[in-house]
Amino acid sequence: MTKPKIAPSILAADFNNLGRDIQMINESEADFIHCDVMDGVFVPNISFGIPIVEHVKKIAKKPLDVHLMIVNPENYIEAFAEAGASWLTVHYETCLHLHRTVNQIRENGMKASVCLNPHTPVRVLEDIITELDMVLLMSVNPGFGGQEFIHHTYKKVKQLKKLILESKSECLIEVDGGVNYDTGKKLVEAGADVLVAGSFVFGSENPKEIIRNLRNI
Ligand code: DX5
Ligand code: ZN
Repeated sequence: MTKPKIAPSILAADFNNLGRDIQMINESEADFIHCDVMDGVFVPNISFGIPIVEHVKKIAKKPLDVHLMIVNPENYIEAFAEAGASWLTVHYETCLHLHRTVNQIRENGMKASVCLNPHTPVRVLEDIITELDMVLLMSVNPGFGGQEFIHHTYKKVKQLKKLILESKSECLIEVDGGVNYDTGKKLVEAGADVLVAGSFVFGSENPKEIIRNLRNI
């Protein structure tokens, strides 16, 4: 079993001490900094946008993995590239012309990733999987941290792994929502490459240790 990459989600960080929490991630064994952008339209919550991502980028020593939970993401691709995103995830459910949007992400120098909500089947990616750098599977309904993990996700990770192998795609599988030691281990066994973790990391007294343990799960 290969070690998963870990992407702490700053949605669960202390926004009065965001610099300190980014510094913690910098010093940890995390691989990415996961930034959850929400518009209050696609999801029933509003988080933060481009200015915060820009500020995070100024002090980040890990690549920014930006998860857009917004409608019309194609209108903001250049802005997030300029803000410092290395990986940009758009939701399948928000993209009428997904192929064009994925190409735009790549043309702007970022890695392209597509996210599926819990109810969206893996098979919708069959004709685009070879163009993707990553697929993000939601293991909760997007919008909030600290929700309960949806167990159907293990099956989706296996289906996605099969699709990736069959199509000889090199895309990574990331999972987001309700990740802890138990769900994280089962996800990695099912084929997940990247684990996003928000409340499990930032709710701990020792977040660096949680990140290290998740990596060595
Ligand atoms: C949910 C976000 C997640 C969230 C995960 O819409 O996409 O990244 O921060 O939070 P936890 O790990 O607490 O479930
Ligand atoms: Zn996320």
